[in-house]
Amino acid sequence: MPKNTELFNPGCPLVAFGTSSDQKEKLGEVLKFGVQCGFRVLNMSDEHNNETSVGMSLKSLITGGFIARQDLFISFKMTKIQNLRQLEEHISKHLTARSLTYFDLFVIENSAFVEENILKIWRTLENLHLSRLLRNIGLSGFPRKQIENILSVAVIKPFAIQDIFNPFSSNNEISQFCQIHDLLLIGMSPLDNLSSKGKLLTNSFVTEIARNHNASPAQTLLAWAIQSQTLPVVQTLNTDHVKENIMLSDLKLSEKEMRDICQLTQTK
Ligand SMILES: NC(=O)c1ccc[n+]([C@@H]2O[C@H](COP(=O)([O-])OP(=O)(O)OC[C@H]3O[C@@H](n4cnc5c(N)ncnc54)[C@H](OP(=O)(O)O)[C@@H]3O)[C@@H](O)[C@H]2O)c1
Repeated sequence: MPKNTELFNPGCPLVAFGTSSDQKEKLGEVLKFGVQCGFRVLNMSDEHNNETSVGMSLKSLITGGFIARQDLFISFKMTKIQNLRQLEEHISKHLTARSLTYFDLFVIENSAFVEENILKIWRTLENLHLSRLLRNIGLSGFPRKQIENILSVAVIKPFAIQDIFNPFSSNNEISQFCQIHDLLLIGMSPLDNLSSKGKLLTNSFVTEIARNHNASPAQTLLAWAIQSQTLPVVQTLNTDHVKENIMLSDLKLSEKEMRDICQLTQTK
């Protein structure tokens, strides 16, 4: 794993709880359950109108004494903003709506600014990082060339790159790039449910490897993502799945199993 994962609390499970659901009330309950089950990395974005229920759950967990704020690692992705000068104001609103005072990681989506130059955006994020509103900064969905441009001028290196990463996504290039540059790859859609409609979870290779480990296909895919040096963000509203998705510590895939799962890209 990249060096910066040392910033996570010792023992923090390196799998993130996704909050991209429009079912606000259910999400709020399941988020609380997720933290109670052991999730510590929470992934959020401005794409879903769910900030009030997310904020209420966080508040009740923190003020209720179940968890300290510093024991959570909260990542937030911003996908839209009109004006760079208003960025700080927008971030403050997103924080307040979620009962937070800082994000552990703030990631900017490639399409968030239509007309601004990315290097100028990065400088603005570096300044906000200095103000401690954003403890770390990163990029989502950026092509490799642009990430290279940013790396060549960055005073503060991106903490993480967020992108789709699963065996069907053919995203080995970005994964290798992140490993070479010691960047954390936060892997979205680790089960590829949205684009393959469950085909990855029912794939015969995956189900056989899962059976051999007495694990579920979802656990096998999450273990594959973690052993591929990524931090997967998994999304569920099902409490049995929440428990399953955090119980990964005993699951270690062999090198051959890792390779076999990698090759699924070609069979999609
Ligand atoms: N670039 C980006 O940032 C990016 C890209 C793609 C997607 N996303 C975001 O990621 C979200 C999720 O995308 P995705 O659906 O492809 O993510 P995913 O985490 O790969 O799959 C989520 C689906 O898998 C099911 N699931 C979760 N745990 C399971 C388990 N243990 N066993 C069986 N099924 C399980 C969930 O259904 P249940 O609720 O029934 O468990 C859910 O429908 C999207 O809403 C989107 O906002 C972001």
